[in-house]
Amino acid sequence: MPRKTYKDLRSSRWFADTGKAGFIHRERIAQAGYSREDYEGRPAVGVFSTWSELNPCHIHFRERAEDVKRGIWAAGGFPLEVPCMSLGEPYMKPTTMLYRDLLAMEVEENLRAHPLDGVVLMGGCDKTTPAMLMGALAMDLPTIFIPSGPMLTGKWRGHTLGSGTDASKWHDELKAGNITEEQFKQMETAGARSAGHCQTMGTASTMTSLAEAMGFTLPGAASIPAPDSRHRHMASDCGRRIVDLIWDDFKPSDFITAASFRNAILTLLALGGSTNGPIHLIAMAKRAGIPLKLEDFDELADAVPVLANIKPTGDYLMEDFFDAGGLPALMSQIADKLDLNSLTVNGKSLGDSLKDAENFNEDVIRPIGNPVSQHGGILVLRGNLAPDGCVIKVSAASEHLLRHRGKAFVFEDREDAFARLNSEELDIDENSVLILRNCGPVGRGLPEWGMLPIPDRLLKKGVRDMVRISDARMSGTHFGTVILHISPEAAVGGPLALVQDGDEVELNVDKRRLTLHVSDEELAKRKEYWKPRHPDPEGAWRTLYANRVGQADTGACIDCNFAERSC
Ligand code: FES
Repeated sequence: MPRKTYKDLRSSRWFADTGKAGFIHRERIAQAGYSREDYEGRPAVGVFSTWSELNPCHIHFRERAEDVKRGIWAAGGFPLEVPCMSLGEPYMKPTTMLYRDLLAMEVEENLRAHPLDGVVLMGGCDKTTPAMLMGALAMDLPTIFIPSGPMLTGKWRGHTLGSGTDASKWHDELKAGNITEEQFKQMETAGARSAGHCQTMGTASTMTSLAEAMGFTLPGAASIPAPDSRHRHMASDCGRRIVDLIWDDFKPSDFITAASFRNAILTLLALGGSTNGPIHLIAMAKRAGIPLKLEDFDELADAVPVLANIKPTGDYLMEDFFDAGGLPALMSQIADKLDLNSLTVNGKSLGDSLKDAENFNEDVIRPIGNPVSQHGGILVLRGNLAPDGCVIKVSAASEHLLRHRGKAFVFEDREDAFARLNSEELDIDENSVLILRNCGPVGRGLPEWGMLPIPDRLLKKGVRDMVRISDARMSGTHFGTVILHISPEAAVGGPLALVQDGDEVELNVDKRRLTLHVSDEELAKRKEYWKPRHPDPEGAWRTLYANRVGQADTGACIDCNFAERSC
């Protein structure tokens, strides 16, 4: 394809216009301190940063944006930094999921409305990655993604501390009386000791890795720890590369295909990645106009075992993963399953990008013959309790619970669960099946409430896992025999809304079934008396969201009539 000239660029319509509008655009860019030499003849590149003091995972983005801009100037581009909503997991309540599509739309419209020819996206904390890529896919201008990079390994008294995973584990030990309040307090400053996203294989590491697997990043970018100087080099390399992508008019639609999504699913499984992966990939595919369904994950579930020995499935953390060779080393283990002709933003095929990958630690990145778990990381279950499907991260579940039948104990929502879980009157034992409902996309915005806590008195007896079922999500850093994303959700009258205390529920992972042992006639009778129980949403956005959001099995997207393309 011939290289573009300046007059072909979108930005020239603003800055090279000969009429009054062009005068105003130039006058105002001069107001910002730029002279004509700074922008004339140069592609205008958006540097979209999700920096915020309310998002510690991205606290290095101000500095990193300067690294990107250095690269853009050096390559003859004109960088323009644009702040975007930062979806910081630790503080946004009830969930950042409510805002994924808002950020996606913000990215898309910031690109559409402004004089930009391409964009470098800076994200990493959970939803920021899929959201920004959804916006970029919808707008389809040349794009590179910069993952924020994992934080350094947490360390406390000889233990490594993994984000989320170890907070849950040690909180349980505190409740069981095995550590003191003072010891638990010491961990507050030991676990998250640098900038960067969670360093477990949570949603952040999963989604940045999938962005790399699909070709949105430079090879190896997703695994570089945030404070490492190589992260800065990668950022300035992205600045240089985006300028070339713009002149070459190399857009997401030129390299994102059905094969890219298949590569992402296989990588998700080999990583033992987050259960949020399917939701976000389906949502991204919608923006790309590529058909992708929960069934596609089901079909590939046994194609590759879990090879990344990273918490919560395994033993190590992302810093170890980087030292072992990072994502290219992992992907090279499953290279024969991947479409190696898929292109990436470095202008090469995936096969070429993986050619020099080496695995330096076969305990961290396992070879295919010695997996962490023979099961693929995530399985799709169906049955009369989840007619449209649900998921389980089988690699983070307990083997003895994968075939389990027990009596349901139902909580109407999270508040109900926290109010009653530890009540002495509740007849719950380790064989009970805990049900949490009204927490799906319409009910509460699909928060990560699915890993209900084990009741204190069972913790003291040594119980560390139980079967838990919900229409909520779960943090990718969490673990246990937790069944999530029940579709359709309770708030729209799905079968989960009809379960009663004492009903028998059966999980059979081998058969991929989740069964409520209640007759269809009885369920129909209960449905007659069912009424929605979720609270009315507050505020304009949450009301719009609740009225327009789809179910988890279809990506929990705001319905926008996404057109499909052939690829
Ligand atoms: Fe930001 Fe986990 S809190 S990635």
